[in-house]
Amino acid sequence: MDNFSIGYANIALVKYWGKKSKNPVLPFNPNISLRLDSLYSKTKIEKSSSGYDEFYINDKKQSDKEVSKIINFIDKFVPSKRERIKIISYNTVPTAAGLSSSSSGTMALVIACNEYFKLNKSTEQLIKIAKEGSGSSCRSFFKMASWLEDGTVKEIKCNLDLAMFILVVSEDIKEISSREAMERCVKTSTNFKEWTETAKKDFDSMISAIEENNFTKIGKITESNALAMHSTTKCATPSFSFLTEESYEAMDIVKKIRNSGIECYFTMDAGPNVKVLYQKKDHDKLYEEIKYLWKKKIIQCMV
Ligand code: DP6
Repeated sequence: MDNFSIGYANIALVKYWGKKSKNPVLPFNPNISLRLDSLYSKTKIEKSSSGYDEFYINDKKQSDKEVSKIINFIDKFVPSKRERIKIISYNTVPTAAGLSSSSSGTMALVIACNEYFKLNKSTEQLIKIAKEGSGSSCRSFFKMASWLEDGTVKEIKCNLDLAMFILVVSEDIKEISSREAMERCVKTSTNFKEWTETAKKDFDSMISAIEENNFTKIGKITESNALAMHSTTKCATPSFSFLTEESYEAMDIVKKIRNSGIECYFTMDAGPNVKVLYQKKDHDKLYEEIKYLWKKKIIQCMV
């Protein structure tokens, strides 16, 4: 794809929510994700002709604040004496809407830098770098991945054919970034400790469920883990929620379809959109049902 490097979005089945350490970035609890290959970012780097560093997303020039954010990150791992660059990025994922654009964007950027600056880093090294840009991006290097409290990122083998739909509630940029939100929850949520304990148990149960090819168990943990994560936002000071009334309507639709016999489960991240986990064999009938009940945008993500 003409010199573009690709990075994929991933959605956590057991969430990363809270940093135990910022440098290096380490999660409070082990987490696990599924990569969505149809949601990706592509990035290339060129020599800047303006004499300044520049950054474009979907042909839109980014603000000085965004440029300095990305350049600060890049300057941690590229040669200190470098020429000014132009970073050109395209997202198929709506940016900063809780649809994992930071994981796909960071993965694409790190690979693009590796190419442009001829860094010759191994995948393992790139994963380590990506994590410092956006924690969850380290999981995008594998179809299914776990990220442990000691920083290890591992590929997880899964025999089930999983896929996701996204019921889009909003593609707007979220009011509070996942980074800020996570930090607030670590510092102030009265149930944060409980969350980390639950998430650790969820992680272990999820690993066994995957080994057992037990989709029902995978789905149930996915839902309860997402709800547990979101409950920490309500117990924060100031309290907040990523979920809107429409998010709850979407969750009800998922439950309704499940009760009618098509197995599917919801999960939500740092935004109001609802992702629906299902098995590919159910795609056609599930899509029909969802289309009938959800009148807004639906993104199909075959994994
Ligand atoms: C809710 O990876 O965006 O999507 O490390 O601060 O960049 P930073 O956070 P980020 O957080 C993702 C949080 C989440 C859950 C998850 O993907 O595990």
